[in-house]
Amino acid sequence: MKRLKAAVIGCGAIAHNCHLPGFQKNKWCDLIAVADPSTENLKKAHEKFKIEKAYTDPLEMLETERPDAVTVCSPNKYHAEQAIAALNLGCHVLCEKPLCVSMKEANAIKKAADKAGTIFMVAFSNRLYKGNIVAKKALDAGKIGEPFMIRIRFAHEGPSPGWAMSDWFYNPEKAHGGALFDMGIHAIDLAAYYFGKITHINAMVGTLAKKIAMEDNAILQFRFASGKLGYAEVGWTSKQGFAGVEINGSDGALVVDYSDSVQLVTGSTNPSGKRVIRKKVIEKNPTAGGWPIEIDHFVDAIRKNKQPEMGLQAGIDSLRVALGAYDSDKKGKTIVVG
Ligand SMILES: NC(=O)c1ccc[n+]([C@@H]2O[C@H](COP(=O)([O-])OP(=O)(O)OC[C@H]3O[C@@H](n4cnc5c(N)ncnc54)[C@H](O)[C@@H]3O)[C@@H](O)[C@H]2O)c1
Repeated sequence: MKRLKAAVIGCGAIAHNCHLPGFQKNKWCDLIAVADPSTENLKKAHEKFKIEKAYTDPLEMLETERPDAVTVCSPNKYHAEQAIAALNLGCHVLCEKPLCVSMKEANAIKKAADKAGTIFMVAFSNRLYKGNIVAKKALDAGKIGEPFMIRIRFAHEGPSPGWAMSDWFYNPEKAHGGALFDMGIHAIDLAAYYFGKITHINAMVGTLAKKIAMEDNAILQFRFASGKLGYAEVGWTSKQGFAGVEINGSDGALVVDYSDSVQLVTGSTNPSGKRVIRKKVIEKNPTAGGWPIEIDHFVDAIRKNKQPEMGLQAGIDSLRVALGAYDSDKKGKTIVVG
């Protein structure tokens, strides 16, 4: 395969931490251009990554440079417009999560992607953690018997101050949603990665600590097509605490503790209250992988001409559930999403 001309739209925190170094490290790619309306952030990207061409208008960059592969790392509001523009020029696209902000936009992306026939990936980086890959293998191999319940907790202190390089995460017009849209979308996608299609969503969202115009915490309950159940807690106000996944089955549990290890837990509890717990560490580095291998995963898909599992459908499905969660909170009832 000839080398790919790669370009990045949006030069903020995730571009600096994943996309820009990822393309520069990948031996099949030349990172030829970046685009961002902020000249200050373009300058920061140039200082660190020395990219040849920089544009303040992403669409002009696409038209002029005609890259083979593009990643969309702008605020959520712009994902659809920029992904569609790239698809219409025949580019392979890696879009940050959430895919976009409405089902109307998602359908428009699907139409453009079908027409382009290029590779489309959504940046569900949790799927690339070694911990989740090892746990999924153990689950599929029947190590905990028949699984019935999944719980996920993704919570940190929030995107700013400290993370984001521009001021959009707490702006409902640009972000569309808060912790549910930002962290919950990862939890929703990961729940589906482990247990398959989500058919029902029930949710409560709240602004519990931050003085912002959107939710900083959310609790989600899932029913899957298989009949299994699950729940997730996501938030932007947590100093620390458990982060990861726990799956329970008829013969034991899998615990993917992001700050520790992946454990296969078996044992029993008898009526006297005596508990027997056996913990076997099956992976010591649960968060190895993730962002550092995300671009390689995208480029591999392009080289093999095979749509990745964390592809457009995963982006659409997770968006439908996230939007259903807001609807559920508003109406105070369970929403059917599949
Ligand atoms: N996969 C993950 O784990 C992960 C982690 C963080 C962020 N993200 C996603 O990445 C995206 C960017 O988040 P971030 O943390 O880098 O934010 P950020 O504020 O650090 O960066 C956003 C950048 O986009 C630029 N921008 C603003 N308007 C633009 C436009 N119209 N076109 C192009 N660029 C524009 C800003 O100037 C800024 O440089 C979001 O969709 C976010 O949800 C994903």
